[in-house]
Amino acid sequence: MAIARTQATGDALDPDMLAWSSSFAIDRRLLPQDCRGSVAHVDALLRAGLLSPDEAGQLREALERLPSRVDHGEVELPRDEEDVHMAVESWLARELGGVAAKLHTGRSRNDQVAVDLALWCRDAVAALERGLEGVLAAAADFIRDHGETPMPAYTHRQVAIPVLARTWIEGAVIEPLRRDRRLLLLCADELVASPLGAGAIAGTSLPIDAEQTAAALGFAHGPRNPIDAVGHRDHVLSLAFACARIGLHLGRFAADVVELASDGLVKLGGAIAGGSSMMPHKRNPDLFELVRGHAALRQGELTALMSLLGSLGSGYHRDLQHDKALVFGAVDGARGCLAMIALGLRHIALEPAACLQALIDGDAVATDLCEGLVASGVPFRQAYAQVGALVSNLRARGRRLAQLSADELAEHGLPTSLLGRLDPIAVARRRSAPR
Ligand code: ARG
Repeated sequence: MAIARTQATGDALDPDMLAWSSSFAIDRRLLPQDCRGSVAHVDALLRAGLLSPDEAGQLREALERLPSRVDHGEVELPRDEEDVHMAVESWLARELGGVAAKLHTGRSRNDQVAVDLALWCRDAVAALERGLEGVLAAAADFIRDHGETPMPAYTHRQVAIPVLARTWIEGAVIEPLRRDRRLLLLCADELVASPLGAGAIAGTSLPIDAEQTAAALGFAHGPRNPIDAVGHRDHVLSLAFACARIGLHLGRFAADVVELASDGLVKLGGAIAGGSSMMPHKRNPDLFELVRGHAALRQGELTALMSLLGSLGSGYHRDLQHDKALVFGAVDGARGCLAMIALGLRHIALEPAACLQALIDGDAVATDLCEGLVASGVPFRQAYAQVGALVSNLRARGRRLAQLSADELAEHGLPTSLLGRLDPIAVARRRSAPR
């Protein structure tokens, strides 16, 4: 009879049902967290007099060494268990004999899996923070190397107004990711309660001090309410949302790069570009397209988690088992994209000549010319119409605003003092000057 089965449970589980329902292949990565939680629980059982010092020592030693022994291939956990929690317990039973039967005293897999996942989420928040820092550092380096290059800011995917490249990178990468960093602090804030001690649904009558266990595991306190502690996954939802928002921000930046590369304003380094299996001339923005696509995957995981959790009553339900594949996917995906955007930022460069040509061809100085007229006392709508007409007339002759001389300005009834407003480089510098 498997460990988590009694006569009351019924016959042995059908092997197909066991194989289909087991989460071991996915939750085996919770092994380090499971062992950490169990060590804290062993200490609580010792303090409660429910384990002797010798028994606690045997369990603690076996649990502390298990993750690295599994990593080094010295121990193979049984695969035919319902999950990693049962696999560890059944391995301990084989390894240590009778004492292993005392480990689960005053505990349920419901509070066990909840504490394992909370510990995992805490590590995930720290890893995502490191990933964000990596992108922010790469963005700062990009600004150091290319930040002063004038380039077009786009609206509606068309050349709009000249800016310096640092305004683009700050707007598309740095500001959004700094907000995401603050969002992760909120996620960490939701990870202050240890679920251990909540038992299956209503704690335990045994004298186990959940507050001490919580402190040993680095939580601020134990479960406030056992029904909530085993059933809620708010920190998982918040983390999945943070991953989705990071994905969205990275995806938007990636979309910028794809477009700027296609317009010839950004050059992709060979280290991050894809090729075509047929067309020998291609250099494709694969890294950025994949990151853009990942944003959709993050949204899928978040939506699946919301649906999964929203349809349940309070307390634990087996449905919750599905939360792990989703949150693991969200965090792995977000971390991968963060690492790739940090790499991508180090392998893209602006093409200054092409950027300048785009600013000239796109009449990107039109708004500055208009505002120059306004500054000299012309009402805005009048200046707006005048510059619009000028652009239209020039374009009909294949010419652009930036090519006008002082004499030509005067011929069009414009003050020659506006000449400085026709230089895209000067305009970009003024637009990007710190305010
Ligand atoms: N594998 C389960 C999960 O991941 C562990 C909890 C099982 N609890 C239970 N009462 N069956 O959610």
